[in-house]
Amino acid sequence: MELDKAIQSRKSVKKFSKKKPDWRKIIEAIDSARYSPMAGNIFSLKFILVSDKEKIQQLSKASEQEFIADVQYAVVVCSNPSRTLNAYEERGENYLRQQTGAAIQNFLLKLEDFGLATCWIGHFVDDKVKNILKIPKDVNVEAFFPIGYESKAAKTKQKRKIELDRVLFFEEYGKSRIGE
Ligand SMILES: Cc1cc2nc3c(=O)[nH]c(=O)nc-3n(C[C@H](O)[C@H](O)[C@H](O)COP(=O)(O)O)c2cc1C
Repeated sequence: MELDKAIQSRKSVKKFSKKKPDWRKIIEAIDSARYSPMAGNIFSLKFILVSDKEKIQQLSKASEQEFIADVQYAVVVCSNPSRTLNAYEERGENYLRQQTGAAIQNFLLKLEDFGLATCWIGHFVDDKVKNILKIPKDVNVEAFFPIGYESKAAKTKQKRKIELDRVLFFEEYGKSRIGE
């Protein structure tokens, strides 16, 4: 798939078919995250591939989002902030946020490339997710991703995206036209 197509066709999907994804494709998508930029080239993330039905149900409860229970795989993204914070102190907090997003986007685009569907889950009770997956105290749960194939019967509409002229300025903040 072309890069533009993957970027533009990606969407959040919450209705999945019964077809089981090939876990190797999910691992490949995780592998793409390794190539993302990281401050000081310090890789701060860990990924947990979850296939246990019981655990997936618990993740669904921990996030109060029922649709998650329908999938056969989920990927939980964790960050270990210590090395980045040691290197960059307070500034490291910003770097950690930015690089987590960059790595997740690589992962999402690769899933899209494989025709797999997911939805970014950011709403959950951290301690519950940590308990389910035995995540250490000093590691953060960033987000998780239920993964499957989109239901053909209940296709999700692509959301309208903000227009370029509402997000782009020239030369200074608030200047929407060249030479204004
Ligand atoms: C940080 C973050 C947290 C999110 N958390 C949730 C969530 O808990 N549940 C959910 O259904 N969608 C969640 N989403 C998905 C957004 O609602 C979705 O990306 C947005 O509506 C745009 O739709 P699109 O992904 O189809 O472009 C989250 C997205 C981001 C980036």
